[in-house]
Amino acid sequence: MTTTTVPAPAFQEPTPTPVSLLLLGRTADPRSERGVECPGDLPPASDPDLVARAAAAKAKLGDRLFVLGHHYQRDEVIQFADVTGDSFKLAQQAAARPEAEYIVFCGVHFMAESADILTSDAQQVILPDLAAGCSMADMATAEQVERCWERLEDLGIAEGVVPVSYMNSSADIKAFTGRHGGTICTSSNAERALEWAFDKGSQVLFLPDQHLGRNTAVRDLGFSLDDCVVYNPHRPDGGLTDDQLRAAKMILWRGHCSVHGRFTPETVDEVRERIPGVNVLVHPECKHEVVEKADYVGSTERIIALLDEAEPGSAWAIGTELNLVKRVAAAHPDKQVVFLDKSVCYCSTMNRIDLPHLVWTLEALADGRVPNVIEVDADTAHFARVALEQMLALP
Ligand code: 13P
Ligand code: SF4
Repeated sequence: MTTTTVPAPAFQEPTPTPVSLLLLGRTADPRSERGVECPGDLPPASDPDLVARAAAAKAKLGDRLFVLGHHYQRDEVIQFADVTGDSFKLAQQAAARPEAEYIVFCGVHFMAESADILTSDAQQVILPDLAAGCSMADMATAEQVERCWERLEDLGIAEGVVPVSYMNSSADIKAFTGRHGGTICTSSNAERALEWAFDKGSQVLFLPDQHLGRNTAVRDLGFSLDDCVVYNPHRPDGGLTDDQLRAAKMILWRGHCSVHGRFTPETVDEVRERIPGVNVLVHPECKHEVVEKADYVGSTERIIALLDEAEPGSAWAIGTELNLVKRVAAAHPDKQVVFLDKSVCYCSTMNRIDLPHLVWTLEALADGRVPNVIEVDADTAHFARVALEQMLALP
């Protein structure tokens, strides 16, 4: 780990760009399948009693309630989480709380679906704003993936192909994965998931994040970039010839995260020039060219752990969602922590869960009403659970 003796200036928020001006969390998103208005009265964000109201409702619910918070959530929300974590830890935690009647998931839709799949029928999983989806998860629909699989079957190679689906996918895609003998992975266990898959078959269909798939295959498993092809669901035959599909080790779905897609190799060069000796640490959803230039790559939980272990006085440029980077910076005033990009990079859907939505949710529960329940149908849940449990059992 490289250390420098630079003083640690206060964290400076990057200059806002038009992307950060998206309206968050109040209304329906007409482009999203899940865009909805919150029924009833959402408290105004200006209400000075929001923190006290959330605390009172939470205290009233006691052990009946368990609040999970993903690392990308706002500070105002994360303060009420019983457990914070990356998507792997949160899935484990959801599965480990059979006594909680209500699991309020402060994260995005696919995480709440996974929690519902891993919890008992007696438990209800609640997402405080149903419009908190994930654009990457929406990039692979069940119909598109079925069409891709049919193509592999027609070619006669499907038997040797093991699907590995990133947690950031819908319950339908997880069920597809379970039905076809595959596993789910997260950014903290993708290497183990791929090793497991290549013990089982000769090719992997990796859904839906091409970058996590490519980064793991090339960096951790030693494959070459030429071993990877990208299946584009919007092009006839996925835009790939029969020979390309037969020869590939990794068939990567053409999905990506728009938040991590903003980091470029130039942003890495620029920060190295600005802060000599800086450690560049990025999430594996970043493009391969960015990951190649970084010093460290890790899931959100790993990012936090690396900063905890870092030497006082060391400098870090972090390429992931801004709520997390700001929190890490605040927790380490003895280190210099900067955001890798020059412009704001929040995940707009993660940010939809704000304090008004949390108060609205907790007060409804305390009054005996259960809003925004995430419920996956039994057949989908069964096969999705097969794939999720395979992940939890990975060596
Ligand atoms: P983690 O699994 O690292 O928490 O990442 C989840 C996510 O959505 C990153 O964009
Ligand atoms: Fe999805 Fe990217 Fe937001 Fe993560 S950061 S929830 S992958 S859009």
